[in-house]
Amino acid sequence: MSTDVESARSSQPTPEYSDELHAEVLEDLRIGEHGYKYRLVEGIVMPPFITPSRYALSRTIETRPDDICYNGYPKSGTNWLANILVRLVNQGEAPSDRTLRDSVHWVESSIEYPRSKAELDAAPSPRIFHSHMPFHMALGGDPLGNPCRYVYIARNPKDVAVSYFHFESRAPWAGQYDGEWPHWLSMFLGGKLQRGDWFDHVLGWWRHRDAPNVHFLRYEDLLRNFGAELRRLGAFLGYDLSDDVVRAIEERTAFANMKQDSFSNLREISELSHFFRKGVIGSWKERFTVLESEWFDEIYRERMRGSGLDFDFV
Ligand code: A3P
Repeated sequence: MSTDVESARSSQPTPEYSDELHAEVLEDLRIGEHGYKYRLVEGIVMPPFITPSRYALSRTIETRPDDICYNGYPKSGTNWLANILVRLVNQGEAPSDRTLRDSVHWVESSIEYPRSKAELDAAPSPRIFHSHMPFHMALGGDPLGNPCRYVYIARNPKDVAVSYFHFESRAPWAGQYDGEWPHWLSMFLGGKLQRGDWFDHVLGWWRHRDAPNVHFLRYEDLLRNFGAELRRLGAFLGYDLSDDVVRAIEERTAFANMKQDSFSNLREISELSHFFRKGVIGSWKERFTVLESEWFDEIYRERMRGSGLDFDFV
């Protein structure tokens, strides 16, 4: 069985990122320090592949009541959440004829299975959308004014910064960025990385966490208390999950299994061949010096003050 499934799943490798293929308006591209490539969309730093036409489509798409859009700042566990959601709406199973990234729609992006408006309109429900946008740039326009359900995942920003450094160093869509870690950290804290300022991104969604169509979860809670978090997510989406389905989803989406499963290992996307790095809480300690950590903590305390949101760093 696995041989047929393997070949079906691996039959559509996505092309590597190139400006010519994926950036649409090349004149918009900017190059920052250490070659960091980006474009500005509504004044926010974005990857070159968030093109004007894809972004416009993502903002104007007509959403349905059973649509699900998962979202998060990059490196917050969004692909893990994708696997959970795809299985949640399908009794714990994964589709046999496609990969995880092919099972979701990434509308704002011109790479990885970009679908036309007609294809999106024809896609069967429940449609699951992948997004990394701040609240005010969300898929479907104003989240509070359309029926889509939004699931936002946030992760402690020290681990995000380190994971993002590994992910974008030398990445073609980031201009082969070649800065060292201290430079990257200053870019992160200065809101200069693609998708903009982490604090604005997370707090923008957090402020709307009690809206009936917004569900906010933390990566660390999912790691520590998977069953309870999954049931909370299921209840939000209107799925009553049996113990067997909860167990199946927990097992199949565990880091080690996702990494080797042809459905979820993202191997068809060559740039993501090292995607599964650690999948733990606290890997920031490998990079941060004591001084950097103290600097970070000071800014974190200041920016998070009064929000009621906190994270687990160890
Ligand atoms: P690390 O680089 O710290 O390992 P995103 O999907 O938003 O890009 O996030 C990627 C991060 O989530 C990476 O973090 C990756 O290893 C981690 N991750 C992926 N699958 C995971 C899983 N099943 N459980 C826990 N973490 C996972």
